[in-house]
Amino acid sequence: MTLRIGFAFNQKPAEEGSSDEAPPSSEPPGPGSLDRFAEWDDAATIAAVERALSLAGEVIRLEANAEFPQLLRDTHPDIVFNIAEGLNGPNREAHVPAICEFYGVPYSGSDVLTLALTLDKRRAKEALRAHGIPTPEWLVAGSALSRPRLSSLGKGPWLVKPAHEGSSKGIPERALCRTAAEVNARVEAIANDYAQPALVERFLTGREFTLGVLGNGSAARVLPLVEIRFDALPAGAAPLYGYEAKWVWDTRERPLQIFACPAETTPQLRRQIEQVALAAYHALGCRDWARIDVRLDADGTPHVLELNPLPGILPDPEQNSCLPKAARAAGMSYDELVLTTLRNALQRYGLGS
Ligand SMILES: Nc1ncnc2c1ncn2[C@@H]1O[C@H](COP(=O)(O)OP(=O)(O)OP(=O)(O)O)[C@@H](O)[C@H]1O
Ligand SMILES: [Mg+2]
Repeated sequence: MTLRIGFAFNQKPAEEGSSDEAPPSSEPPGPGSLDRFAEWDDAATIAAVERALSLAGEVIRLEANAEFPQLLRDTHPDIVFNIAEGLNGPNREAHVPAICEFYGVPYSGSDVLTLALTLDKRRAKEALRAHGIPTPEWLVAGSALSRPRLSSLGKGPWLVKPAHEGSSKGIPERALCRTAAEVNARVEAIANDYAQPALVERFLTGREFTLGVLGNGSAARVLPLVEIRFDALPAGAAPLYGYEAKWVWDTRERPLQIFACPAETTPQLRRQIEQVALAAYHALGCRDWARIDVRLDADGTPHVLELNPLPGILPDPEQNSCLPKAARAAGMSYDELVLTTLRNALQRYGLGS
């Protein structure tokens, strides 16, 4: 029998006068403005995933809007392939999975708890720490921090980011702060623009990597390591892969050559990074696929910055998208990446061959 695959996604609204990928201004806009859609997928990505899924069965488009629950209930597919980032609130990424669970429909990717947990960077870091997985030391600040509190994170610099966002929303260059006054200005800006507390972290000065993981349990495997090359940023830019690097300097016409894949490392460093990333994947209960950001401290020790259980998957090889790039480096096409993830999900539910 033909597999009936529901495909859950959020499509980015078309923006006048800009590419599909870039928010229109060079300033991170506040709540209610277009960067709230920064995580949503463009039409090309949605079409590419749909095409890949159609190789495995009949695809039923289920845009994750107000009609989604009813549509899911009416169509009741065998499985939902989920890339929907959600719209409202700090648990938005968990909404499609929650509705699937409510109606008893299997779905790909991480579950409600993991998606909610990883979007809340503070809670995610607490879980990492509880599992003994290195992550930069941090404080949560809803208002100005006193100098002694800030000093508990060392003498700086510090990185200030919203407690629950992704896609570098709220992480412009000035998120890298060298004084207490700079930190407190960012804490205030995040409270105003994003109506949420800020995470103030010790800034790690070493190399940065991101690692794709596919599969489950002992069969989970890592893709070739991607390094973020800060030397590809404009001269004088802060060494971080933040808002400007993702949304301003990297354009469809002139992509930043910011990824090196496979990254050049010693086998020992590669193993260390893979170990912390896999430990984090399992500790936070990731399923089927995820991308994990890792950065080295000044001593070369890998720390987990954050986990992305709904990884970006732009189909065009010319565009910067880590997971498809790492998959390509492993000899895996875009379609194979999508179909492998679907197969891993089906197997979890005992539906696979
Ligand atoms: N504590 C830190 N030390 C050094 N660099 C950091 C730290 N936290 C964040 N960064 C830099 O800022 C970037 C964005 O941070 P982070 O990955 O937490 O944000 P995000 O919005 O969740 O990103 P994504 O686009 O991966 O969802 C990182 O890739 C890294 O370059
Ligand atoms: Mg990140």
